[in-house]
Amino acid sequence: MIRLAKLSEAGQVCNIVNSRNVSRDSGESGLVEYPERPVGWYKRALNGNINFYVAEEEDNVLGFCSAYTDQMLRNKMFTGDEIIKDILKNIGGPFLYIDQVALLKSEEGKGFGKILLETVILNSDLSKLVGACAHSPKRNEWSVGQFGRLGFILEREITVYDGLTFGIYCLNRFN
Ligand SMILES: CC(C)(COP(=O)(O)OP(=O)(O)OC[C@H]1O[C@@H](n2cnc3c(N)ncnc32)[C@H](O)[C@@H]1OP(=O)(O)O)[C@@H](O)C(=O)NCCC(=O)NCCS
Repeated sequence: MIRLAKLSEAGQVCNIVNSRNVSRDSGESGLVEYPERPVGWYKRALNGNINFYVAEEEDNVLGFCSAYTDQMLRNKMFTGDEIIKDILKNIGGPFLYIDQVALLKSEEGKGFGKILLETVILNSDLSKLVGACAHSPKRNEWSVGQFGRLGFILEREITVYDGLTFGIYCLNRFN
């Protein structure tokens, strides 16, 4: 079932992130050097967030998609995230920032990633959506492909975290 995440699921979400983090020179695909954050950080990220969805089965979180409004990104919990700092400086709000989509390795290839991303997008009434995809030295082909399929346009490329380049993609809906 795809549904809004519960606060009590912060630990499972955190474990999924940690299990899917990859270094820039690894051969595996995944979250490229995503900042490591404690469970408490995910509790704050989930608390009252109507844009954070999970794929769940019998109380086990199989995967999730997290997104934050620009208003939420101004919270100090995001200070230090170089991508978010750049987006807040260069993209005018209001917008929804799609941060992560990640699944347990065992759940890949069943369509959960695509459904989670679409659920977050379809349930938001904000007209502007923003996402960042790893471009180089490691390109996240899945996110680039999904954002392209959904009509997102590459707005700019930024280099952060000591040499990681990300594409900033935007979709303006309802106009
Ligand atoms: C990326 C991820 C969420 C994909 O989830 P998934 O449920 O396996 O993907 P889906 O089944 O929804 O795939 C949707 C489409 O993408 C394609 N696809 C799947 N993995 C892909 C990959 N690594 N590269 C390119 N395309 C891929 C599928 O073939 C499918 O194509 P189709 O619609 O033409 O049939 C999952 O592999 C994952 O958790 N990876 C680690 C974290 C990560 O990289 N997240 C993305 C950055 S935030």
